[in-house]
Amino acid sequence: MKFFADTADTAEIADLASTGLLDGVTTNPSLIAKSGRDFMEVTKEICGLTDGPVSAEVVALDHETMMKEAEVLRKIADNVCIKVPLTIDGLKTCKALTKDGTMVNVTLCFSANQALLAAKAGATFVSPFIGRHDDNGVNGLELIEDIRIIYDNYAFETQILAASVRHATHVLECAKIGADVATMPPKVIKALANHVLTDKGIEGFMKDWAATGQSIL
Ligand code: G3P
Repeated sequence: MKFFADTADTAEIADLASTGLLDGVTTNPSLIAKSGRDFMEVTKEICGLTDGPVSAEVVALDHETMMKEAEVLRKIADNVCIKVPLTIDGLKTCKALTKDGTMVNVTLCFSANQALLAAKAGATFVSPFIGRHDDNGVNGLELIEDIRIIYDNYAFETQILAASVRHATHVLECAKIGADVATMPPKVIKALANHVLTDKGIEGFMKDWAATGQSIL
């Protein structure tokens, strides 16, 4: 499973990239606003921090303007992935962009039927939102399960990019279901490494090692 960082914070992205565990980045208008930076400038910088896909979202709602915005965005770098909303205009834009090999991430997917449409539109990625379903009393992971079944039934190549991933259990369940990618805040990626017994084990080893009086270097 690939890990994408869901942030426009370049310091956090650089830090994660240095671990070798980062496979790409997703941004959205809210994350760009949170960064307080110029959209084009910060997106270009992010594209330089990873070789993987970097999702940059259009903000137009109609197909024609989405195409114009996509034209601007895809010139930023070769690893830009155009993000479009899961609407008829977004799907039309997805179909047109993927025809010539442009990567497209269809976002704001909240139902398996929407994901079916994204695959039919040739999306590179579909982004079903888990946490926002959970917030509303619906099990978001069931959506990932349904999409996995449907995509496997028809051998669709669209990758399931689990989004709105809020914690380690979401990641574990997505991995068990077979989501292709999970995008999450950097702190969630880092938290996956945490275990109290790992900490306790290190503490014990350090104490015993100190008692030997030896050093490796
Ligand atoms: O990638 C979409 C993601 O940013 C949404 O996450 O936590 O705002 O629902 P959240």
